[in-house]
Amino acid sequence: MCGIIGYVGPRPSQDILISGLARLEYRGYDSAGIAVIDGEGSLGTRKRAGKLQVLRDDLAAHPLADGTTGIGHTRWATHGGPTDANAHPHLADDDKLAVIHNGIIENFADLKAELVDAGHTFRSETDTEVAAALLGREYAASGDLVEAFRATVSRLEGAFTLLALHRDQPGLVVGARRNSPLVIGLGDGENFLGSDVAAFVEHTRHALAIGQDEIVAITPDEVTVTDFSGDAVDVEPFEVVWDAAAADKGGWSSFMAKEVSEEPEAVANTIRGRVHDGIVEIPELDGLDELFTDIDRIIVIACGTAAYAGMVGKYALEQWARVPVDVELAHEFRYRDPVIGARTLVVSISQSGETMDTLMAVKFAREAGAKTLSICNTQGATIPRESDAIVYTHAGPEVAVASTKAFVAQITALYLLALHVGRVRGALDAETIAAQVAQLEAVPEKIARVLATEQEHIEQFAHWMADTRSVIFLGRHVGYPIALEGALKLKEISYIHAEGFAAGELKHGPIALIEPGQPVFVMVPSPSSSPLLHAKVVSNIQEIRARGARIIAVAEEGDAAVLPFADEVLRIPLAEPLFEPLLAVVPLHIFAMGLATAKGLDVDQPRNLAKSVTVE
Ligand code: G6P
Repeated sequence: MCGIIGYVGPRPSQDILISGLARLEYRGYDSAGIAVIDGEGSLGTRKRAGKLQVLRDDLAAHPLADGTTGIGHTRWATHGGPTDANAHPHLADDDKLAVIHNGIIENFADLKAELVDAGHTFRSETDTEVAAALLGREYAASGDLVEAFRATVSRLEGAFTLLALHRDQPGLVVGARRNSPLVIGLGDGENFLGSDVAAFVEHTRHALAIGQDEIVAITPDEVTVTDFSGDAVDVEPFEVVWDAAAADKGGWSSFMAKEVSEEPEAVANTIRGRVHDGIVEIPELDGLDELFTDIDRIIVIACGTAAYAGMVGKYALEQWARVPVDVELAHEFRYRDPVIGARTLVVSISQSGETMDTLMAVKFAREAGAKTLSICNTQGATIPRESDAIVYTHAGPEVAVASTKAFVAQITALYLLALHVGRVRGALDAETIAAQVAQLEAVPEKIARVLATEQEHIEQFAHWMADTRSVIFLGRHVGYPIALEGALKLKEISYIHAEGFAAGELKHGPIALIEPGQPVFVMVPSPSSSPLLHAKVVSNIQEIRARGARIIAVAEEGDAAVLPFADEVLRIPLAEPLFEPLLAVVPLHIFAMGLATAKGLDVDQPRNLAKSVTVE
């Protein structure tokens, strides 16, 4: 949450800041602001509540003098509502110093009381202004911005990325991070800081990942990274594989529409380079066999959509690798007393690689002696850096807040991992692996078929359902997490009450919700490859239909058995049971998007949410 960008170089910075913020807006859109040191050496700031467009319009109507050193922020409100006053940057040292922040400073109340006692007055309700005030006081004492940062961070508890510039130090932006993201972009005679590489990918693909508890100072020609004690540290260079165009909307009506259309390639790109002669070989896992052989248990941790991908992955890991797997929400995992140790592999899944709940759970697992592996979509992110091993998903940048293409890429990565672990543990023979790989490799084309043949129909259907107040999703086996994902997507972007249930559980309570006309989506297993499950689900359909439910079946092409019981059938191509989730989720993503669009809602930036949740 909250997007941060900093720039120093020869170019006017405002456009660079604003376009960087546009790429970071998925991190929060309660307010936006910039601070720029202009050619006269004055510090100008502008900040406005609302989406970035409000700031853009304000700057167009009342231009701010431009300059070559600047910082910018897009906010997801925590301390203090989304107002102009609470928007970042916050000023200190007689308005000569500007600070932006991502995270939460947990001891801000004590620090604020101390500063108020000392005569400081505050203009906002934010924790950030407290950090700004401390930094201003330290800078006034030392005249050295890096020193001032060092003194300030030693007083702060919680999670933060802070960036600051000072009117008297043009050509310098300083940043610090603790448990909150920050990466460096290296340009030619110019340098960047950003919450993630999206902030600067249109200018440079050369990046540096900095670690926790480090301070970075950038000038046009130099980047200096030290730890909180002032000692120099090594930084890890990497090349950004995303290109800038991939993070643009192109001709699409929304990022979500574009990203759903990219689901086939998200799967294909995640497989690419990891299959050789029908055998899964994940280069990132070379030499790490003991992560998989010396374990007796896997725990998958994640939040939101990523957790549902984990639930799907459990079926594959258990079936192919023959290891017991538990899937747990990261924020729940950490606060009980889980039985884990050296023979536990904790697999975290996170598109952003920054979700604080997941990051803290990974750290907790490591401290408890478990092995850790991260499935992540974002290079340079924190969670993979905190893990023993990484398997990247190659979905490309996902900008819409509700996750779609990353979900199918996460399932794909889990399946590749399951086949890899199955081979390493001797649980699978080459023939079985090759057969599963062939199924997986056929998925992109099958998803493309769902998009080509069903999208229009589903969008039209969603339009008819725009007045619906409640939707139920049912699934069995791997269809169950897909039902949960379908319900989450609808809640997230169309604000309709939706619930996902295991189809067999319905009769144990939720069936009381069924009244005439209640729409129920049912994930129908393949009649040919799972006849038993198919029959059970058809019975479940009959039970609720008898009570007046309106059935929308997501069923395999050619499945005629559902026709008499379904009011609507959304077709998916034939696939083995484990591969159905990758197809069945596509109509649900299209449906949620279609319904939100029919209600006139912003599908990319749903209310109250942020894509990268960097607070607990
Ligand atoms: C937020 C987003 C969800 C996402 C979840 C996990 O809640 O709104 O769409 O699934 O975070 O995000 P991650 O980046 O860890 O996959």
